[in-house]
Amino acid sequence: MLELEAWSLGIVNQPGKSIVLIGMMGAGKSCVGRCLQQRTKLALVDTDDIVASKFGISIPEIFSKYGEQDFREAETQALRELAPVRPTIIVTGGGIVLCETNVDFLKRLGVIVWLDGNEETLFERASRARTRPLLKGENPRETFTQLLQLQLPLYAKVAHVRVETSMLTDEEVAVAVLSKLRKLGRNLGAGSSVFAEATADKPIPATR
Ligand code: S3P
Repeated sequence: MLELEAWSLGIVNQPGKSIVLIGMMGAGKSCVGRCLQQRTKLALVDTDDIVASKFGISIPEIFSKYGEQDFREAETQALRELAPVRPTIIVTGGGIVLCETNVDFLKRLGVIVWLDGNEETLFERASRARTRPLLKGENPRETFTQLLQLQLPLYAKVAHVRVETSMLTDEEVAVAVLSKLRKLGRNLGAGSSVFAEATADKPIPATR
């Protein structure tokens, strides 16, 4: 049922208009992206995967061998070259919003969905895998707080839709995402310029 609904949103059935997942590390973007892919049958791309395959090594290896700056440049390049001909689920790295150019690219791609959560939950999830290069330092908890403070307003500024994930499973988040996108499409009405109006609808308050 939801597969059909996703297509009938008037959001993902426009050529080139995709669902872009943003949010802090630990928000569940990759897992939720896969759930969304199964439900919608849309293609899925992950900017981290693009960067990793360009270097031919993992993200942690890129950070330790070449440094964050090279990773960021490759991330921007990956985004610049991303031009799906069909609607796609696009999973992004947590820091993608730090670069203004990236934000323009994200907006061009489609509807931007921010997966949010409370700080403790996000940190617990992000540190669980022990693979995040940015959390490898002396005080990962403090680093996480600093990144969150820096990035939170940037997510809020660019997102069309926000989903609070702290109490939800990945599947539940995917359902919530589709439901919010459906609502967004309905509110804007058939035939309206979904993206223009969705942008005008910002900032997205926490109540959405
Ligand atoms: C980063 C998050 C990571 C990855 C890289 C940098 C960040 O992706 O892109 O380690 O700056 O927050 P996830 O958000 O999937 O962990």
